[in-house]
Amino acid sequence: MGADRRGFEVDPWQLRWCGLDLEALRRTESIFALSNGHIGMRGSFEEGEPVGEPGTYLNGYYEKRELPYAEAGYGYPENGQTVVNVTDGKIIRLLVGDEPMDMRYGEAREHERVLDFRSGTLRRSTVWTSPTGQSVRIRTERLVSFTERALAAIRYEVEPIDNDLDLVIQSDLLANEPVAKRGDDPRLAATLDRPLVAEFAAARDFHAVLAHHTKRSGLRMAAAMDHELEATAEPRCSVDAEEDLARLTIAVDVAKGDTLKLTKYLAYGWSSQRSTPALRAQVDAALAAGMETGWDELLARQRAYLDDFWSSADVEIDGDPEMQQAVRFALFHVLQAGARGETRAIPAKGLTGPGYDGHSFWDTETFVLPVLIHTVPMAAADALRWRHSTLDLARQRARELGQSGAMFPWRSINGEEGSGYWPTGTAAVHVTADIADAVIRYVAATGDEQFEKSCGVELLVESARFWADLGHLDSAGIFRIDGVTGPDEYSALADNNIYTNLMAQRNLLGAVAACERHRAVAQRLGVSDAEIGRWRDCAKNPAMPYNADLDVHEQSEGFTRYARWDFAGTPAHNYPLLLHYPYFDLHRKQVVKQADLTLAMYLCPTAFTPEQKARNFDYYEGLTVRDSSLSACAQSIMAAEVGHLGLAYDYFVESALTDLHDLHHNVPSGLHIASLAGTWSCCVAGFGGMRECDGELQFAPRLPEALNRLAFRIMWRGSRLSVEITRQEVVYRLLSGDPLTFRHHGHRHTLAHDPQSLAIPDLPSRPTPEPPDGRAPYQRPGDRSL
Ligand code: BGC
Repeated sequence: MGADRRGFEVDPWQLRWCGLDLEALRRTESIFALSNGHIGMRGSFEEGEPVGEPGTYLNGYYEKRELPYAEAGYGYPENGQTVVNVTDGKIIRLLVGDEPMDMRYGEAREHERVLDFRSGTLRRSTVWTSPTGQSVRIRTERLVSFTERALAAIRYEVEPIDNDLDLVIQSDLLANEPVAKRGDDPRLAATLDRPLVAEFAAARDFHAVLAHHTKRSGLRMAAAMDHELEATAEPRCSVDAEEDLARLTIAVDVAKGDTLKLTKYLAYGWSSQRSTPALRAQVDAALAAGMETGWDELLARQRAYLDDFWSSADVEIDGDPEMQQAVRFALFHVLQAGARGETRAIPAKGLTGPGYDGHSFWDTETFVLPVLIHTVPMAAADALRWRHSTLDLARQRARELGQSGAMFPWRSINGEEGSGYWPTGTAAVHVTADIADAVIRYVAATGDEQFEKSCGVELLVESARFWADLGHLDSAGIFRIDGVTGPDEYSALADNNIYTNLMAQRNLLGAVAACERHRAVAQRLGVSDAEIGRWRDCAKNPAMPYNADLDVHEQSEGFTRYARWDFAGTPAHNYPLLLHYPYFDLHRKQVVKQADLTLAMYLCPTAFTPEQKARNFDYYEGLTVRDSSLSACAQSIMAAEVGHLGLAYDYFVESALTDLHDLHHNVPSGLHIASLAGTWSCCVAGFGGMRECDGELQFAPRLPEALNRLAFRIMWRGSRLSVEITRQEVVYRLLSGDPLTFRHHGHRHTLAHDPQSLAIPDLPSRPTPEPPDGRAPYQRPGDRSL
């Protein structure tokens, strides 16, 4: 197994990092974060220090803070939300002799960490010699349970190597942990000073509980811990709890070669409504259940959960071991972000770090949900139920801005708009259509009528009302939406952004179809025939600006008339441009932050001819700088569709290594969940050519040169399907469920119990377009040994 430049060893089912690199600590803490979508724990060391950013997060648990404005304006959101680093239960401090185990002192002779995608655990093994020459081997393993949502557990083992030792273990619950002040990069989070107010603390035997609430948002939380100890000598134990700290202390002599084993069980709960006694009861009960289940069984359940996940979601890659690992790493983290959110949002960073203040964006619906829809559909439905639960706030926001229907926030934790920067916040209205799009895709892929009736129709109706009001039909009957920001934030407040217009059209037509399927629900929502007629009229002819001289679509009206950005004169260190140039300048030039029209061509494939797609792709390729991690995957997918397979592979690599190689230099504040999800989409929608059109599943697979074989699995209406692509042919297999019809390169087939082998048509060759100067796709370091 070779190690790449970024320190991770290449292995198909795990991620291993050897050695202690203090510089890389924050980055590896994000990468080694564990989560089940409800609880998130960064991969910080049990001993508490050294530490980069010691995060523990509960999905939806936030503090409110004022959004300051130099000049206020009507409709500006007044309050922002920031994810809270809650009570840290990961800490297990160790004293060897009288030396605190701290790898900055003494010598870490061996040290490795392994994130295992099948066991769903983070393991660590360290041999440490204290400054006074005492050596211990420490092995730890931790999990955040996929099956027991409120529970996490850590096994901590210490073995004296050269002689008998006096050891002291202190297992903590620590609230209001100190965190270092963060910089002023807008992608980071606000630093909250001691956000938790103590309400209750108790301890007895091996058990302790702390309850707190936040100062301004008033959310309550409780954390509890309990332990099992295996030691050969009689230990001396004590337990204490004060406002922000509960501690179990165990002092014990351990003979050379013996192992001291401590298993720590942790339970978390939070609520905006429940009382402290109720929350205490909740975490105590979760803990009791966890102890009853026991460490071995928790491990076994974690493994079984993941076996099941991989059996319907795995992607196999032959020919590029690093990409095999990267794709599984990506899927594992996407699962961790969404698995047990249960009507909470999926933040842009999942629960791996405080970046973007813990907010959710359109990243969820446009990038993450397509993966979950086809792998863990229930998790996708849950995320959409969260949006549904925020509908009142979205209606209120629409009213506030003088619009009908519902207008969803650009970024949020609780459903309220949390963006204080209007042009690339509130004005990015496409998020409302992106949510509708995810509803349409979810229902098409699952046929989940119950969801549609209880949430889906209402989401579609309220969002359609917003579009019908926001846009207008001009004298020629063309539906225009003016003054909005599309996905490309380097163009703002533009007229007729094609992405927004097409997604709005999809939203309007989706609402019409849903109301026709569910007339009683539509009636309850007050939808009249006249309203449906209006949606139809709006959807008939959306404005799609076109430059006939260049023979390409305009991302938004007038865009192709702007001056080109001076790419040749922009030094590499001035990317991302948003940190080095004023928006004032970016907004009036042809420079694209992230796939915009290119993304529209992927998500609305029938709105463009194949020739238009090819020409548009090539044109925008020369302008797109990929200052957002959301771009490479969309470019890869469309590069594959228009026939640039090599380029598609390069962007796939870039998307897949965004976090593992820290390509945007901000992994320390959390992973890029959308880009990780997009890595799956590169394989399935890009090389697999998967699209859903009018309820029909379509594939157009092609294998890139770099690979010998690519196989993936997806769920479609309760059936599990595998697609295996080799150089000449594709084999489709029904793994379980009912037969289904699908298209392969345009031709319809039915897949029943016999596999279908189908040939791949030739690909006409076309010259590969050039990216902007200095913005070629990421190249992996050549000295890598695979
Ligand atoms: C991108 C947005 C994205 C946000 C969170 C920004 O840099 O431009 O499209 O939603 O990051 O990932």
